[in-house]
Amino acid sequence: MAKFPKNFLWGGATSANQIEGTFLEQGKGWSTADIDKFIPKEQRKSGPADNLVKRADVEFAMHDKKGIYPKRNGIDFYHHYKEDIALLAEAGFKMFRISISWPRIFPNGDDKEPNEEGLRFYDKVFDECRKKKIEPLVTLSHFEMPLNLVLKQNGWLSRKTVDDFVHYADVVFNRYKNKVRYWITFNEINVLEMSGFTSGGILADNIANRKEARYQAAHHQFVASALAVKKCHEIIPNASIGAMIARFESYPKTCNPKDALANVRANQNNLFFSDVQIRGYYPSYIKRFFKDNDIHLKINDGDKKILREGTADFLAFSYYSSMVAISPDATEGEKLTSGNLKLSFQNPYLRSNDWGWQFDPIGLRIALNELYDRYQVPLFVVENGLGAKDKLSKDNRIHDDYRIDYLKQHIEQIGEAYQDGVEIMGYLIWGCIDLVSASSCEMSKRYGIVYVDLDDYGKGTLKRKKKDSYYWYKKVVESNGLIL
Ligand code: BG6
Repeated sequence: MAKFPKNFLWGGATSANQIEGTFLEQGKGWSTADIDKFIPKEQRKSGPADNLVKRADVEFAMHDKKGIYPKRNGIDFYHHYKEDIALLAEAGFKMFRISISWPRIFPNGDDKEPNEEGLRFYDKVFDECRKKKIEPLVTLSHFEMPLNLVLKQNGWLSRKTVDDFVHYADVVFNRYKNKVRYWITFNEINVLEMSGFTSGGILADNIANRKEARYQAAHHQFVASALAVKKCHEIIPNASIGAMIARFESYPKTCNPKDALANVRANQNNLFFSDVQIRGYYPSYIKRFFKDNDIHLKINDGDKKILREGTADFLAFSYYSSMVAISPDATEGEKLTSGNLKLSFQNPYLRSNDWGWQFDPIGLRIALNELYDRYQVPLFVVENGLGAKDKLSKDNRIHDDYRIDYLKQHIEQIGEAYQDGVEIMGYLIWGCIDLVSASSCEMSKRYGIVYVDLDDYGKGTLKRKKKDSYYWYKKVVESNGLIL
């Protein structure tokens, strides 16, 4: 039996706000990502915060002349897209995941007419992909939204944002119906559970129950996603449109039933989002969680039907590291470590990268098995990779064997999961071209197999360079995963 399916979609992934640049040009409006400031490591608080952004913070950032806001410039993909897509094509990429910047299409989010220049830009990107035989996978919302909708109606906390989003989705589905067949509605929708601003555009002013606000925003995103799925099927009958979560594979620390129960809760907390989007209804366990946290959602008549009729075709997920669950009465003295937007207790069996993210290739095989058991829909690993500090060596090359080792081990486990019977659509390396970090706005946390000459302070030639991992991945793709 082949290690990987015949039409396996090998490739890489990015997001608009981390690569494009062209801040407030070509008709683009302010994005929530444009106010993300670079903070040097020494000044950073450990781990991801509750993402408390207030109106005053937004207004400050919009007028700040001193701070560094790297997502405004990205890696200037806007002007390098041809060169970048050519590099990916040369590595044999079958798929390239990008996102559309909503404020590039609707600068204020609620404009009547879209910005033609913005639409034209993505036309060019998709045409270039097609020319190079690369299938684009497009995320409608990847950690950004028009800032105007935040200031005007508090982002996803408002039901009105559902209509604005569906209008945007309708416009891009119609425009790109002959160019894009694979879509994702929201990037890592479950990140809303901890990051109200990044994922939900919620301002922290006057919010009495932040948890409730985040779950209300999630409800609006579920409805918007389901409506977009339905629309996508009507407008592009041969399209496949998926939901996406950040998978936090979790293990109980011990076989103490209390730890096992904490692990069940951790999984429910993570999978609530895909439960709604894949099954089409709220799972029964969430009632107790809402009761315990005094969460009362406003759910319109008809929402249940919308959720039922708009279930996603596949489940995409990101996977970087795993977590450890410990009974709440036994956590004293346990050490925490960072992960993808979430802290975890440390796992003594795993190694970490420089940011404390503990990597766990076998956890990916477990995740694939568990998610497939639970949903029985095709799965797609749309983000995985190693954030590391790459150095140019004396021969002017980047010898990133540590990245090759990381990717190799994860790909091996995907092959194993496929042998286990899991239906897997493909594998995309996160940040296949170095890009601005989502959480820290650094450039020095690099994921790419293509290096970009740019530092944390926006200095550099922007020249692209193939790393050792580039040549290695090319062989992996060519051999459909047989040569690792
Ligand atoms: C995921 C996001 O959470 O992780 C990406 O979808 C992000 O946008 C990636 O870049 C890695 O996180 P970071 O913080 O290292 O950039």
